[in-house]
Amino acid sequence: MLEVTDLAVNYGHVQALQGVTLEIRQGEIVALIGANGAGKTTTLMAISGLVRPAAGRITFKGADITRAEPYDVVRMGLAHVPQGRQIFADQTVEDNLRLGAYTRGRNGRPVEQLMAREFERFPILGQRRGQLAGTLSGGEQQMLAISRGLMIDPPFIALDEPSLGLAPLIVQGIARTIRALNQAGTTILLIEQMATMALALAHRAYVLQTGQVVLEGTGKDLLAHPEVAKAYLGG
Ligand SMILES: Nc1ncnc2c1ncn2[C@@H]1O[C@H](COP(=O)(O)OP(=O)(O)OP(=O)(O)O)[C@@H](O)[C@H]1O
Ligand SMILES: [Mg+2]
Repeated sequence: MLEVTDLAVNYGHVQALQGVTLEIRQGEIVALIGANGAGKTTTLMAISGLVRPAAGRITFKGADITRAEPYDVVRMGLAHVPQGRQIFADQTVEDNLRLGAYTRGRNGRPVEQLMAREFERFPILGQRRGQLAGTLSGGEQQMLAISRGLMIDPPFIALDEPSLGLAPLIVQGIARTIRALNQAGTTILLIEQMATMALALAHRAYVLQTGQVVLEGTGKDLLAHPEVAKAYLGG
């Protein structure tokens, strides 16, 4: 469904990515893990059209999106839930969701229907629909960021460090949401620095280190891999 081939991204003189190749098949959860600054967010930004690759090729559902605009990538059904949530703090929960729906295709389902579905997924958001998003807890803000992404009814969603800064119990809830979404047919790219949850959920995973893929395998294999355990599982 998504293919990244030999991707390179530079920020001025900084080479953030060199020769990154990965693929995500329809129906999979694929994890992209790696330490601080490894290039995880940069990989996703290149996929979403938010940074311009210096080299390489990205295709989504068979179409070349290497130099596509972010707007077009979203319209094709690729939702991006950014690191740090990036919700609109001074807007209500409902308005955040409406803004999420703004870029959905012309034939998209009615906003009210999509919003009702998100309030079913995360009842707390329904209870707080009129509340300013900036006053939500960290976990609720993450739920809102995910729901906002889902308002385009995407076949593919990429989540950039959804567990960052959240308590273990909240992370478990997010993990359940991700698994349920996948079981309902959504293909998922899950980016995490804390690899335990991601590897437990993922069918396959890639390990990124200083801008390069250094390991790949099934989630299970990488969970058991000694180097991964040492570097990313705190063991
Ligand atoms: N706008 C930018 N300008 C210059 N360098 C950048 C910029 N954004 C990222 N970088 C650099 O590119 C490299 C990859 O950063 P990136 O944010 O993709 O890493 P990451 O794996 O997402 O890290 P983290 O887990 O901390 O989010 C880092 O060395 C970072 O300092
Ligand atoms: Mg990042």
